[in-house]
Amino acid sequence: MPGGAIEAYPLVREIFEAVAAKVDDEPCVSWLGPGAAGHYVKMVHNGIEYGLMQLIAESYHVMKHGLGLDNRRLQETYRQWSRGALSGFLMEITAEIFGRQDEHTGLDLVDEILDAARQKGTGMWTTQQALALQVPTPNIDLAVMMRDLSARREERQRAAELLRTSLPTFQGDIKEAVNTLAGALNAAFILTYAQGMALLREASVTSGYGLRLATVARIWRGGCIIRAALLDDLREVYLSAPELDNPLLAPSLASRLLQQQNQLRRTVVLAAQLGIPTAGLMGALAYFDSYRSSRLPTNLIQAQRDYFGAHTYERVDSPGTFHTEWQRS
Ligand code: 3PG
Repeated sequence: MPGGAIEAYPLVREIFEAVAAKVDDEPCVSWLGPGAAGHYVKMVHNGIEYGLMQLIAESYHVMKHGLGLDNRRLQETYRQWSRGALSGFLMEITAEIFGRQDEHTGLDLVDEILDAARQKGTGMWTTQQALALQVPTPNIDLAVMMRDLSARREERQRAAELLRTSLPTFQGDIKEAVNTLAGALNAAFILTYAQGMALLREASVTSGYGLRLATVARIWRGGCIIRAALLDDLREVYLSAPELDNPLLAPSLASRLLQQQNQLRRTVVLAAQLGIPTAGLMGALAYFDSYRSSRLPTNLIQAQRDYFGAHTYERVDSPGTFHTEWQRS
């Protein structure tokens, strides 16, 4: 994901193209834009990576502790998912991880690994940037926060005692729940990529990167952690609408989400009933429902702001800014 002075690119292009991964004989590399454009794209790539990893971890939690699947079944499921619509590098390595034994104990290695996620910071930078540019990226933000929460392991041990509660156990059809989860994950993946792409679009405008998002989607299809089948679809979206604010506005992705939204809803309801934390899936659903709302309850927030701070509000029926003396009846 190189950026910088365009005059420099011909000097390194041959080397970059030779070492880059190839998809359909095309090298997964391109000059992306001036200045920090390349680093910026790589940062957002990592933010999306955090979001996808959190979602996969949640699917593991639901299947292991909600549906009672053992590590063999989990491996089988992830392997199957890595061949279909959910296919991608992260799904492939997840399947492999569930098949790995610890060389010291002979136990499944995944169960021997401490549940305290660390980070080098790129996901957090993405979130900080998104907040600064006022672009909502809840799946990336929540992924960073859930890593932070997981790292507070000692606190969680104490809370686990104090906040213990009895919740129902799963009674339904396991196969159906797994299939529903696959659809939910697919929808949440689309929503996570969409948030990252929307951030790139905004940053491209504000920083003058001139990013071609079809090229970004193209080069992410090989040799990187978030490579996934979905990137072919995203590439198509931006080839036909390069200036799109958010890929969810593309009819092709919108219709896929409309098909899968019920699976996302059902999975979130199930997880809430079982007490399994699924911040990423829930955040994805809230993002979806908020983004598709022509009217949100934020008129009330504006009224409250005007009430306590005379911050003014706009009206639905006329332009300009208005203030009400709320305490005067
Ligand atoms: C990467 O390998 O993509 C990044 O270094 C992410 O690492 P982190 O999860 O430690 O932030």
